[in-house]
Amino acid sequence: MPDNTLRNNLVTERTKTIHYAIRDVVVAAKKLEAKGQKITFLNIGDPIVYDFETPHFMIEAFCKAAKQGFNGYSASQGIPEFREAVVEKEKRINQVSILAQDVIATAGISEGIQMMMAALVHPKSEVLVPGPTYPPYLAFVRFFNGKAVTYRCIETEGWRPDIEDIRAKISDKTAAMVLINPNNPTGAIYPPKTLQAFIDLAGEYRIPLISDEVYDRLTYDQTAASTASLAKDVPIIGFNGLSKVFLVPGWRIGYMYFHHQNQELNELKEHILKQARIRICTNAPAQYAAATALHESDAYLQDVLSRLRERRDLVWNRLNEINGISATKPEGAFYIFPSIDLQKRWSTDEAFVMALLKETGVLVVHGSGFDPIFGAGHFRLVFLAPPTTLNSALNAIQRFVEKSH
Ligand SMILES: Cc1ncc(COP(=O)(O)O)c(C=O)c1O
Repeated sequence: MPDNTLRNNLVTERTKTIHYAIRDVVVAAKKLEAKGQKITFLNIGDPIVYDFETPHFMIEAFCKAAKQGFNGYSASQGIPEFREAVVEKEKRINQVSILAQDVIATAGISEGIQMMMAALVHPKSEVLVPGPTYPPYLAFVRFFNGKAVTYRCIETEGWRPDIEDIRAKISDKTAAMVLINPNNPTGAIYPPKTLQAFIDLAGEYRIPLISDEVYDRLTYDQTAASTASLAKDVPIIGFNGLSKVFLVPGWRIGYMYFHHQNQELNELKEHILKQARIRICTNAPAQYAAATALHESDAYLQDVLSRLRERRDLVWNRLNEINGISATKPEGAFYIFPSIDLQKRWSTDEAFVMALLKETGVLVVHGSGFDPIFGAGHFRLVFLAPPTTLNSALNAIQRFVEKSH
């Protein structure tokens, strides 16, 4: 028999460090599903999985683009029509003034995070990210041999970032600071005062500030201010995209922008553009479609938001009725991040999530997957499912948690 095995030490240490809790937990769920167990997937922030639909005008625009023949490669930075539509949208919705030359189309924010960390992270660089955070911020920093340092977000104060903790963690190795507003996984909206404090810190220490605003219009009782709208002379890098607000996560279309008065971010932009060229371009019909869609009325959002608000209230109320669980009310996005009293029953939040999955078929994500420090002892539940599904899942969670009480 020929020996077809490949050499030892085949894959790099770099790739071995990659974890993405939100999708990693699905492996266990799929195994149970294959054995016949019914699984309720409350782990992933994709509005299309349940009863939300992509607005019709988006689908029309995408089909029209493909039919009109926009199926070739596009400019690496993104087509001018898309970048100009982003400029108009950011002005109209977020009161942010940018130029089309400072916008880069990306295959979702995810690609933007990868390109940005590739450009900024030197070996041993540190990047300040929220604790807890959207996991790719941890993974990409680690991938490029840097260290993600999580700053505390204060649960008892609506998961507001602790500015003093951030200040204490800034060092000469700090390559960037990241904020996510509205936040995944906590659903927090940061008050303008907090955003201003971020801007002031970035200005004082001359550290690039990255503001991820992918949930900018998914807010309930208050709106979320955009960081760049508050920054006068401090440069800001904005990350945004169509995945969530326009309900097209599968299109893989997003953007980053450079908001700077005196072109301070030009060198960084040039190095992101080099990466954009090497990956050729992002989805061309999606760019053409988005260029039209970004100008459309957002009337469809009223219905989306009223359904989400009802689901947010439902999960928040019901989780807090469970003995051993306590949850802060989310103000935006579609996640809730409750804390669990692990008692002696579960060794970790991950053990809790796996036991919950095995016993009830309800899949949520362990909080430590969003930060081993500030996420531990929590789980993230996505409240996109219809109320009947959420109610059954919550019944199961309640029975499971209160069994020993
Ligand atoms: C905070 C945050 N940023 C970025 C993303 C990824 O967005 P995209 O689909 O644009 O890559 C997500 C997805 O859940 C997210 O929660």
